[in-house]
Amino acid sequence: MPVRSVLVLHGPNLNLLGTREPGVYGRVTLPEVDRLVREHGRQRGVRVECRQSNLEGELIGWLQGAERERFGGIVLNPGAFTHYSIALRDAVAAIHIPVVEVHLSNVHGREEFRQHSVIAAVARGQIAGFGPHSYVLGLEALLALGGSRPRANQRRRPRV
Ligand code: DQA
Repeated sequence: MPVRSVLVLHGPNLNLLGTREPGVYGRVTLPEVDRLVREHGRQRGVRVECRQSNLEGELIGWLQGAERERFGGIVLNPGAFTHYSIALRDAVAAIHIPVVEVHLSNVHGREEFRQHSVIAAVARGQIAGFGPHSYVLGLEALLALGGSRPRANQRRRPRV
């Protein structure tokens, strides 16, 4: 089934983007990231909704409710929860829509504790190190999995 609607979830401290460790995360703010990914979605015919929380339980609630809310996939940056939240991992494992894990920074080239993700094994895949474009690539990954809705002039003729 084509993905028509995607939920983007940002975990803890990502509300501080723009001023938080700019040497690592850059100067782009969270509303700017959201605009970038929403605009990319618009060009690809996909509705994108973005939410951020510093609370593990709130992120879990959004993951659990995503299917009911009729999202076809989730782009998830779990922030520091990536490295230790078994509860978030269990939520990702429990739901039936694809989740792509994304990170702004290349976590594999950073401190040792960031090099392990407890989420990655239950996500459909992981994208890390491309700054705000990690989210755009995450969205593209979901479209590649589900098949984006073709534009009218790109639709293939049905085989007869
Ligand atoms: C992050 C990487 C995490 O290790 C860190 O705790 C974050 C941001 C990233 O996007 O690069 O909060 O998920």
